[in-house]
Amino acid sequence: MTPVPARRDDGVSEVLIAEDAIAARIRELGAEVARDYAGKDLLLICVLKGAIFFLADLMRAIELPLEIDFMAISSYGASTDSSGVVRILKDLDASIEGRDVLIVEDIIDSGLTLSYLVRTLRGRKPASLEICALLTKPDRREMDVPVRYVGFEIPDRFVIGYGLDFAERYRNLPYVGVLGGEGA
Ligand code: IMP
Ligand code: MG
Repeated sequence: MTPVPARRDDGVSEVLIAEDAIAARIRELGAEVARDYAGKDLLLICVLKGAIFFLADLMRAIELPLEIDFMAISSYGASTDSSGVVRILKDLDASIEGRDVLIVEDIIDSGLTLSYLVRTLRGRKPASLEICALLTKPDRREMDVPVRYVGFEIPDRFVIGYGLDFAERYRNLPYVGVLGGEGA
C-alpha cells in the first residue's frame, strides 16, 4: 500500500484549468448540445468513473429533456500509459436502439478506449452516436475518433482532478491539474 498523502493536492505541480474556466466552458458546451439536439431523444452515456463531474455539470447546462446511463470500461491500471486492453466492467442498463446517444468522456488520449466503445455501441443501432469529451490530447492520438464536442485541447501532460485520477486518487480536486512534483 502507498501511504495516504496528507493533503488532497499533494502531487499537483500546477493548475492547468481552473474551476471557473471549466464551469464557463461547460455552459457553452451545454448550450451547443441543446441547440443540436432540440426535438431529439437525447441519451447521455457517462463513461465511469472519470466523467462523473463532467456529466453532472454538463447535463444541468443542457436545457432539454434527456436521460443518462453509465458504462465502465477498463483503461489504465496504476500506470499513466494506455495498455490498449479495453474491457467492459459495467454495461448500460437499457437498450440504445433508436436513441440519440452522446458519449460523455473525461479525456481522450490515445483514442483506443473510445474507438472500442464507439464500435461496440454502433453495433447496438442507435439513431445517432456522438462524442463529447472534456479534454483531448491531440498529440497522443493513435486511433482517429470523431469527437463532436471538445472542452479543452491540452498538451501531452498527465492530468488529474475534476474526476480524473492517478491510481484512483485526486478525483476530488475541483480543477484540472498536472501530476508531478512531490507526492506524485
Ligand atoms: P485512451 O484510451 O488512451 O484514449 O485513454 C482514455 C482513458 O485513459 C481516459 O478515459 C482516462 O481514464 C485515462 N487517461 C488518459 N489520459 C489521462 C490523464 O492525463 N490523466 C488521467 N487519466 C487519463
Ligand atoms: Mg476514463
